Order: sequence, then C-alpha cells, then structure tokens
Amino acid sequence: MKFNNGNWTMIKAINEKNNYLHRALFFICLVCIHFQLKAQKGNEQQMNVFIDALMKKMTLDEKVGQLNQYASNWSTGPISPGGNIIQEIKEGRVGSLLNVKGVDKTRALQEVAMQSRLKIPLLFALDVVHGYKTTFPIPLAEAASWDLNAIKQSARIAAIETAASGIHWTFAPMVDISRDPRWGRVMEGAGEDPYLGSLIAKARIKGFQGNGLGSLDAVMACAKHFAAYGAAIGGRDYNSVDMSEHTLWEIYLPPFKAAVDAGVATMMNSFNDLNGIPATGSAYLQRDILKGKWKFKGFVVSDWGSIGEMVEHGYAVDKSDAAQKAILAGNDMDMESRSYTANLAQLVKEGKVPIAMIDDAVKRILTKKYEMGLFDDPFRYCNEQREKDAINNPQHRIIARDVAQKSIVLLKNQNNLLPLSKSTKTIAVIGPLAKSKEDMLGFWNVPWQDNSDVVTLYEGIEKKVSNSTKLLYAAGVDPNDTTKSGFAEAVNAALQSDVVIVSVGEKRSMSGEAKSRSNIHLPGVQEDLIKALYATGKPIIVIINAGRPLIFDWTANNVPAIIYTWWLGSEAGNAIANVLFGDYNPSGKLPMTFPRTEGQIPIHYDYFNTGRPAPENTKVVNFRSGYIDLPKTPKYAFGYGLSYTTFKYEGLKLSDSMMTKGKNIEVYFTLTNTGKVAGEEVAQLYIRDKVASLVRPVKELKGFEKVYLNPGESKVIHFKIDRDKLSFYNQKLEWKAEPGTFMVMIGAASDNIQLQSSFKLID
Ligand code: NOJ
Repeated sequence: MKFNNGNWTMIKAINEKNNYLHRALFFICLVCIHFQLKAQKGNEQQMNVFIDALMKKMTLDEKVGQLNQYASNWSTGPISPGGNIIQEIKEGRVGSLLNVKGVDKTRALQEVAMQSRLKIPLLFALDVVHGYKTTFPIPLAEAASWDLNAIKQSARIAAIETAASGIHWTFAPMVDISRDPRWGRVMEGAGEDPYLGSLIAKARIKGFQGNGLGSLDAVMACAKHFAAYGAAIGGRDYNSVDMSEHTLWEIYLPPFKAAVDAGVATMMNSFNDLNGIPATGSAYLQRDILKGKWKFKGFVVSDWGSIGEMVEHGYAVDKSDAAQKAILAGNDMDMESRSYTANLAQLVKEGKVPIAMIDDAVKRILTKKYEMGLFDDPFRYCNEQREKDAINNPQHRIIARDVAQKSIVLLKNQNNLLPLSKSTKTIAVIGPLAKSKEDMLGFWNVPWQDNSDVVTLYEGIEKKVSNSTKLLYAAGVDPNDTTKSGFAEAVNAALQSDVVIVSVGEKRSMSGEAKSRSNIHLPGVQEDLIKALYATGKPIIVIINAGRPLIFDWTANNVPAIIYTWWLGSEAGNAIANVLFGDYNPSGKLPMTFPRTEGQIPIHYDYFNTGRPAPENTKVVNFRSGYIDLPKTPKYAFGYGLSYTTFKYEGLKLSDSMMTKGKNIEVYFTLTNTGKVAGEEVAQLYIRDKVASLVRPVKELKGFEKVYLNPGESKVIHFKIDRDKLSFYNQKLEWKAEPGTFMVMIGAASDNIQLQSSFKLID
C-alpha cells in the first residue's frame, strides 16, 4: 500500500477506533493486575515471614557466609589460593558458587550445603553469555539483527538449557555501552547506542527470566558491569573511566535502568574506577542510584575479586578496609576476593559496619533463593533427564541458525556478485577460519570437551552446493602468524576456481575479557593473503569472523563482496552458507561504528557538531574539526547493512507541525521493496534537537522497525514520538524536553537518511 492523503484519513479513523478498544482493554488489564497484585502481596508476606524467621536463627558468620561466592576449579579469573570450600559449605559459610556446570556436579555440591546447620541452598552461577550447549551468536552479533524477538528467543533457549543443567543464575546480559573497538569486551554487549542497547537489555532479561523466577526453565539474569566499564580509557580492559555526569546518565546508565525496569534479578558492579572511585566501592552508583533512585530490589554481586582489587586501586588499605568500603557502598555479594568471609564479622563486632547493612544484603540474597523455589526443593533444577533433553533438543539448533543468519551484515556486494549459484562448478574456500570449529563459537562460550557439533563454514558450503560442485580448500595463513608460506597453495586453489570465498578475521582468543588490542586491523598477514587472491582476477567474497569491528580498508576498497559474520556459534557454517547462496537474504545492520583507522577512536554516530564542523568525506582544510590525513567519517556507519534487494523510502508525513502538551507526533512513511527478492529492512528513526541548553547530538536513534517485504510490496511504517524521546538530562541532571525545533530523520543507516522533516515542541 502506498501512502497518500486518502489513506491518511483512513489511518486516523482506524487510530480513533483502536483508541476506544485500547481503553477497554486497558480497563480489563487493570482489574487483572489488581487481583494479581493481591495474590503477589500474599506470597510476598509469606516469603518475608519465612526469611525473617530464618535470619533470626542465623549467626553472624552464617550471615556473612551468604555474601560469599567462590569459584569451582574452573576459573574465569585469578583464583585466590587457600580454603577448604567443601568444609566451608558444610559450615554455612558459602552462599553461592560459580563455574560449576551440570546436574551431577550441582547436585553433589547442593547435598553438601544440605549438611549445613540451617540447610540454606547454594546458588549456582555461570557466564551463559550467548548460549549454554547450543551456542548462539555473540551478543554484539545478535545486536546486529535489530530483532528483539530473536534476541529474546536466544536468551530463552540459553535459559532452558542452563536451568535444566542445575544452574540458577547467568552473569548476563552485559549491557555496557561500548564505543571503542580496541576494548575486547565489545563482543559481549549490544554496541554503541543507548536506545538500541536498552531495548536489547530488556529483551535478553525477559528471555533469561522467562515467566519469572521460580519457573523451572528460568534463570536469574545479571546486568553488568555497573557502571561505565565500556568507557575504559584507551580501550584497555579494567582501566579507569573519566566521564562527565551528563555522559554517564545519558549514554552509559540507560541500559542498566532498562534492566531494572525489566525486573533483572541481580546486578554486577565493575572493575573500573569511575572518576576516581572504584565502582565496587561506589555508594553513589550502588546505594544512591541503583538501590535508592531506581529502587532495585535484587542483589549486587562484585565482579571477580573486585572488592580485594580496591587495594591495588589505592582506594583501600587492605582487604578488611576493602570489605568495609564495599558493603557500605552497597555491594552485597563478594565474588572470589574472600574479603567478606575473612573480615565482615569482625568489622561488625568493631562497630565499623552496621549489622543492618549485613542483614539487608543477606535478605536480598535469601529472597532470590526463595523466589527460585530453592527452599521448597534445593534440587528442583537437578533432573538428569530434563538436562539431557534440553541440551540435545534439535529445535534449539534451528533457532540458533535463524538468529545467526539474522546477525550477518552484508557490507559490500558489487555488481550483485552474491548470492552465488549452488551449481557453481568450482569454489575455492580459503582462509584460516574456514574449517575452524572453536573460532566460530567465539569468546565466552561455555566450554565443552567436544565441539564436534559446531558447523564450520566449509561444512555449511559443502551441504549447500550441488553434487557436481567441486570445493578446493587451503588455509593460506594463520591469524597469529606472519608467515606467508601457505599463500602459494591458496593462490593455486583460487586459480583453479570460478569463485573464491575467503574466511578471515579473529580467532576466538582475540576478542573478549582482557583481549584489548591497540591494532585492530585484520590480524597477521590475512589482508596480504586477500591481496594475493585478488591478484588472480577471480571474483572474491571475503567473510570476516570477529568479536569486534575490525579495520580492513584495502579489502573494503577493492574486494567486490564482504560479509561480516562476527562469531555466530554452533550453526555458523549453515547460517553463512544460507546467506552466500541466497537461502537467506541478509538483513543485519551494524550496532557499532567501524572506523577507518584506530586514530578515529572513539567514534560513534551521535557526536556533537562542534563550532567548526568539517565537511563529510573529505580531509579537513581551513580550520575545521576533522583530520588532515583522512575524512572524519567512519568506514561503515552505525545502522549500515545491505540486502540482496533494494528499498525505497517515500511520503514522510508528520501528524502535526507542533507538539503541544499531552500530544505526540505520529510519523508515517511508506517503505517499498523495489528489488527482485523478498527481504527485510531495518527502517531507522533519528531525531535532532536543533538548539538546547546543552549541545545535543547531530542524530539520536529513537525508533526502528524491522520489516519483511515481498518484491514490489509496500508498507506504511509508523513511529510515535513522545516527550520522553525528546528529553535529555539538562545541566541539573533533570530529564526534560526543551521547547524548540526537532528534526525527524528516517533512514536505512545513520549516514543514509532518506527522508527528513521537522516539528516544533511547544511548552
Ligand atoms: C569477570 C568478568 O568481568 C565478569 O563479566 C564475569 O561474569 C566474571 N569474571 C565471572 O566469570
């Protein structure tokens, strides 16, 4: 349907009718909510009576025990030596364990906890960041799908498998905004944008927590790392963060706030100091904002050893001082620093820590154990048959493939080289990652002895092509290496082929925690390999697997087709093959800006204009804000991604030219698939506040819709702009919209605005 004045009136009429229906529905919902709340209140009262009674029986040591979390012998950080964990569990001096996996192990340890005086069950935690047995794409890849349902579904499946394996709690989602691709942990989050990041945070939490804590297939989520960890100076992991209050509130805190609003069970604080105060010891972050202003009812766990690390920071004299600072600041549970278990009881006895603070932390933790149903049955997540069924469910692989293909971003497709014909005679599959299983999984996958079920790119292609297609293979190079001795074999394979597919990028160990890189070009001599293959004159498709935006300018400028696949998980090979051969039309859009070179970092789309904006896409001349050696624009912008079809944007209409009190602006336009194949487009809404009491970004994402259209099909797309979308934190840190002109921009990417209009906000 095209958009014109006739159907404009029709839309208005439909809207009015819908309003009436909505009001009726709203009333019915209110009645339901009333009864639900009453029942909940009853349950809550029961729970409080139980927990209060239990706490009356607890000794101070047992209370401190609940705040203590140890890792098993599989470590994701530096283990503090000493202690007999089994004995401590028996003595009621451990509240939770991390890195224990599987029903047999969690059952055995829970049995030990049942030997303790008060039989308080343990909480088992694990970093289930992108899938448990079925590995999904890394979170940054999933963010590229801009598909909130798919992202929620991925977390749901992860939760089903995790909960069935005796684990109650995942240390995910990471909701840190990240604008510096040198930081290895960008792979774990949703990228650079607070609006997209907040929606994704919510989707993941809803996915993990399913129908609520206590459902057998739900795990507690943990929003991390609170706060501003993503802004580590120089992109160096664990580094300091120096940031204005304004940036903190506007860019870095919103996904955490969204997580709290979505009912996240727990939060993890972070390693970094923020403006000189380690986040773990920050009362401002944890007490004032999180537990105070946002009324967070769950509990806060430290990051691994981060309480003890306040000594290294130079913020605490010793671990006792660190324990005191952390608990006073609102950190409830100590992960692996052993500062609480060694010192908290003494600190209470000396009057340095009020018992009320310990009680509050204990109560928060016991509440979660209660909500998980562990006091009813500590072994309710320990069912071998359920575990087996869940981790071998073939349906999960189908969903993983679907999410994986949605996460792929087509960066370049000159002369429609892609998709390839399945009956191409000879295809050379080259590159160090083409036959790699482990590297498809990416960092933070849950380790398994046997990864043989991961589908490699080579296997995916092999299954896809016709019987008569011949595949040639050569690794050509090792990403960790600079030797070119494998080039000749690779070039030879290319020369014998009709088309060359090159799989390059980062190995699994090249992005992730403690994997910051100062040089984010394609590692090793991989780009030289691409050059050598290009010199054969054969058509080349480059597939880049990586945990972060990489720099590959020569490839981008010369090679005809480039697909960015990130790390896609168990179904990587099948998903990429679907895209290569046209069984799936790529629809991903970049959730992070790709710089031209490291010197542009940090780089993001929502920058300020400055008083001397340089023209786009040229080197700067005449005293303007840019670089004299390259344009200020990125290589690939936030929101960018191609499809095998084309889309036309037309007929932008705003419901009014003025936004008055209590009114919204409704935005409509028509999107048409003008190509020959069906496809999905992520239509994006950006706004710009032209003049305000603080400088506002040149663009801010405020809406998007992923739309599926058949060839020739059109759809009217609607966005609503309310006051909230125009608001920002002013100098007094009040969230307010200021009257004035707002630009409305609709586009296919942040640097590809197709339609534009404006309206005035009247106070
Ligand atoms: C340290 C990481 O920063 C955090 O994200 C993770 O959850 C813990 N280690 C536990 O593995």
